Amino acid sequence: MNILFLGDVVARSGRQVVRDRLPALKNKYSVDFTIVNGENAAHGKGITLKIYNEFMRAGVNAVTLGNHAFAKHEIIPMFDQCPNLIRPINMDHEHGNGYMIYQIGAKKLAVINVLGMAFMTGYEEEPVPALERLLDQISADIIIVDFHAETTAEKSIIMQHFKSRVTAVIGTHTHVQTADECIRDGCAYITDVGMCGPYDSILGRDTEEILKRYIAKEQTIYKPSSAKAILCGCLIEIDETTNRAAAITRIQIRPDER
Ligand code: FE2
Repeated sequence: MNILFLGDVVARSGRQVVRDRLPALKNKYSVDFTIVNGENAAHGKGITLKIYNEFMRAGVNAVTLGNHAFAKHEIIPMFDQCPNLIRPINMDHEHGNGYMIYQIGAKKLAVINVLGMAFMTGYEEEPVPALERLLDQISADIIIVDFHAETTAEKSIIMQHFKSRVTAVIGTHTHVQTADECIRDGCAYITDVGMCGPYDSILGRDTEEILKRYIAKEQTIYKPSSAKAILCGCLIEIDETTNRAAAITRIQIRPDER
């Protein structure tokens, strides 16, 4: 089984690059299931119903979130209408689901979203006990964890602690892809899968706006960059005889690259 994971989709150009590139990627890698992190999809923060529906039409199967999950108030009713929308398990237990289980052929695939705590706000429970409790409750053949966190060390901790119990730990949130993809005891891992969003920017945000804020100390309004997008993701290949990860391949397509 081949699972495609695309990193944090940021703003308009990020949504566009996913729509434009996903069909060819699915074809090239014989993808069985596609996950995208959509927590920055709407103007850089949060997600809307319209954007979720665009993802579904583009061929995405599951949309994970993160610290900006609740940035747009319309997210609350969306959870009833969007069965493939997954918020972190350790964030606002009142609304939505922290995981989903899908039947893919003979296999049960669980997609779980967890929020880190280092340099992060919004988590209501530490990630380790939250994930341990969930893993004790669910039954699935293949378990993919989107660990949405800031620091490299925390992501590595989660992978090392849970590698025997899950099939992949994919880091999201920093928007910068790391080159450390690996398989550890049958668990696929990358510290950060990177961003689908404006390439010539500051993590997807407008460069001039950030420079005014950081250097000139101006009070600015959040502005996503309108630059052309890079696409970042990874392909996780599952050995269906063992249900463990056999390979992880990093994907990065810069603007204007064929
Ligand atoms: Fe984030």
